[in-house]
Amino acid sequence: MCGGAGFIGSTFVRLRLRGSDDEVVVLDKLTYAGRRENLHDVADDPRFSFVHGAIEDADAVAAAIDGADAVVNFAAETHVDRSIAEPDAFVVTNGQGTYTLLEAARERGLRYLQVSTDEVYGSIEEGSFTERSPLAPSSPYSATKTGADLLVSSYFHTYGLETLICRGSNNYGPYQYPEKLIPLMVLNALHGDPLPVYGDGMNVRNWLYVEDFGRGIAHVLEHGAAGEVYNVGGPGECPNIEVVRRILELTGRDESLIEYVVDRPGHDRRYSLGSEKVRALGWEAEVHFAAGLERTVAWYRDNPWWWEPIRSGAFREYYERQYGRALGD
Ligand SMILES: NC(=O)c1ccc[n+]([C@@H]2O[C@H](COP(=O)([O-])OP(=O)(O)OC[C@H]3O[C@@H](n4cnc5c(N)ncnc54)[C@H](O)[C@@H]3O)[C@@H](O)[C@H]2O)c1
Repeated sequence: MCGGAGFIGSTFVRLRLRGSDDEVVVLDKLTYAGRRENLHDVADDPRFSFVHGAIEDADAVAAAIDGADAVVNFAAETHVDRSIAEPDAFVVTNGQGTYTLLEAARERGLRYLQVSTDEVYGSIEEGSFTERSPLAPSSPYSATKTGADLLVSSYFHTYGLETLICRGSNNYGPYQYPEKLIPLMVLNALHGDPLPVYGDGMNVRNWLYVEDFGRGIAHVLEHGAAGEVYNVGGPGECPNIEVVRRILELTGRDESLIEYVVDRPGHDRRYSLGSEKVRALGWEAEVHFAAGLERTVAWYRDNPWWWEPIRSGAFREYYERQYGRALGD
């Protein structure tokens, strides 16, 4: 499991160790987003092991992959704002890294699942994207993820590698790095800091609880047909401003904390995934947004050990660069 020390990857590792007899090897570069803390509760499991390395490094990949039956690739540079400021790491990890993993899987004849995103389809005013919709990414993040998806599909068509692609909608839940909308707003609200909302706050996302995505990936890994793409979308849509209002309510704060800030360049207006194909395979989202958000806010409230080192470290500089103001203490 590449990128297994990140938000979704660590959730998947946890689900897999608890729900199957699998042995799990995580290969992770431990960038700012990858943390050992995300795997604190599985670190002593005898069926778990960790290799520190990059997916674009063929030697590190070889060290991690030997003996594996399947590769699941979560590893990526994932934050759109960072891809606008510094796209180079996105090209290396999302492009070159995926290529290196595909080559290693091809040499060994392994099943390969690429974790991808709804952002490859771009923005949609009405209706939902199906797996056959054209790919029209808008940011360096989504463009490099799209390139990776196309490369993955080419390994099925050209070499007969057993590939699968899962395109998830916006995830939320515990262990998500606080540069992303929901943990950023939750932590700012808990601290009484202003909540920076891009543009008019009417960007709509299809929110998916991270364990539901993890279950969807596991389901596709086991039951998906080689060469296929599966959309895995959340059960409800919500504009950002509505997400922020619900967080204020759950943290007992009022709307005076909302601060509208200059919009992200090229900000996609709406994402929406049709997930009929993965439903036909037997997966269903189980967590509705209201319940998942309540659970998420409670987790951040109860786990300052996890976010305190982030909020007092390099994240402060990122925040100041991004929002032009310092983070409160
Ligand atoms: N977060 C979302 O809402 C969302 C939605 C759909 C799809 N996805 C996709 O799911 C995957 C995981 O996303 P996430 O939110 O958990 O990301 P994350 O940023 O929390 O974690 C990324 C992980 O990848 C690791 N990593 C980065 N570069 C690496 C490299 N070169 N070699 C090895 N490891 C490296 C990091 O250390 C980290 O552990 C990504 O591929 C992302 O595109 C995310």
